[in-house]
Amino acid sequence: MVGLIVARSKNNVIGKNGQIPWRIKGEQKQFKELRTGNIVVMGRKSYEEIGHPLPNRLNIVVSRTKQFSGDNLLMATSVHEAIGLAQNDDICHQFGLPAAGCAKIYIAGGYGLYKEALPFVDKMYITEVDLVVEDGDVFFPEFDPDDFDLEIGETGGDEVKFTRTVYTRRKREIIYRRLTKADLDAFIDMRITHLTEEYLTAGKRPPEDVDLKGALLDYYGRHLADGTFVSWLAVDGKKIVGTSGMSFVEKPPYFTCPTGRLGLLSSMFTDPDYRRSGIATELLGRVVEEARAYGCGAVWITASDMGVKLYAAYGFEHNGNFMQYKL
Ligand SMILES: NC(=O)c1ccc[n+]([C@@H]2O[C@H](COP(=O)([O-])OP(=O)(O)OC[C@H]3O[C@@H](n4cnc5c(N)ncnc54)[C@H](OP(=O)(O)O)[C@@H]3O)[C@@H](O)[C@H]2O)c1
Repeated sequence: MVGLIVARSKNNVIGKNGQIPWRIKGEQKQFKELRTGNIVVMGRKSYEEIGHPLPNRLNIVVSRTKQFSGDNLLMATSVHEAIGLAQNDDICHQFGLPAAGCAKIYIAGGYGLYKEALPFVDKMYITEVDLVVEDGDVFFPEFDPDDFDLEIGETGGDEVKFTRTVYTRRKREIIYRRLTKADLDAFIDMRITHLTEEYLTAGKRPPEDVDLKGALLDYYGRHLADGTFVSWLAVDGKKIVGTSGMSFVEKPPYFTCPTGRLGLLSSMFTDPDYRRSGIATELLGRVVEEARAYGCGAVWITASDMGVKLYAAYGFEHNGNFMQYKL
């Protein structure tokens, strides 16, 4: 479970001048009670404000610039990395936590951590403080309340009241279906975004003089029509959140592939907000089955570093520069 814990004012303020802008007896009790078996992930400034690791729990401090050391303290350079540490069996064992996956992870702010975690947190424990804070300088990020079910809990406080609330993420209804001509515009935009990101990640700029959109429209139009390209999509509502693609080619037959037919895998992409939920594996399985039904002897892909894990887990083997899955 990845949770988020925050207290915010009526005008969404969470910090002012490097501090929490109120002192209300009992307001911090819920946070302080996250002890044994819990993991608290906090930003570098929030950690510096507290000044030491919180006792009896694992603290993970997120910073790109600083290193701290201490009991029950780990460092990470992003929230994703922090969660990777928190879900690592060896680390859980080392810090006496329940097996990875059982420990509760709480993102405890500030703004950048909340922003990075909001798309995937399972639960948000939000204490609504009945105050309007003037000149706040750190705010809780916007989110879509329709993504969550809201439970209103108890109210406390004397002069200033606060109310506990719990937002639980609604289960996403992911539908899997084949790509159709009507999807091509959105599919091609996702493909170009993905290819552009690969260039930028490698520190390169994509060429500007290539009409990739036109070329892709031509390719997919022709090959969807004659059945030599097939794609399965993962869709949430109207939004495409995962893509896959299989092109069928023929070579002169050879001993281990007497049909001469090969499947070339491409366009494997999952929206970052939907990763780690099995979508890529599901899509991979569906296009591999398409290749089997087409009579392919093997499926090939030139895998990115990120993809290697997925394909290896599925059963693809390295074959020279290619990874291959024998059918
Ligand atoms: N009301 C509440 O529940 C609550 C909870 C927490 C904090 N607060 C308040 O909020 C304020 C502090 O929040 P803040 O947003 O200014 O600071 P913060 O998140 O505590 O710390 C900011 C620093 O954390 C690192 N960081 C943040 N997001 C990151 C990311 N996504 N990836 C990698 N590193 C990241 C960076 O460290 P480097 O610069 O070292 O790279 C960044 O400068 C204080 O006023 C505090 O009292 C309130």
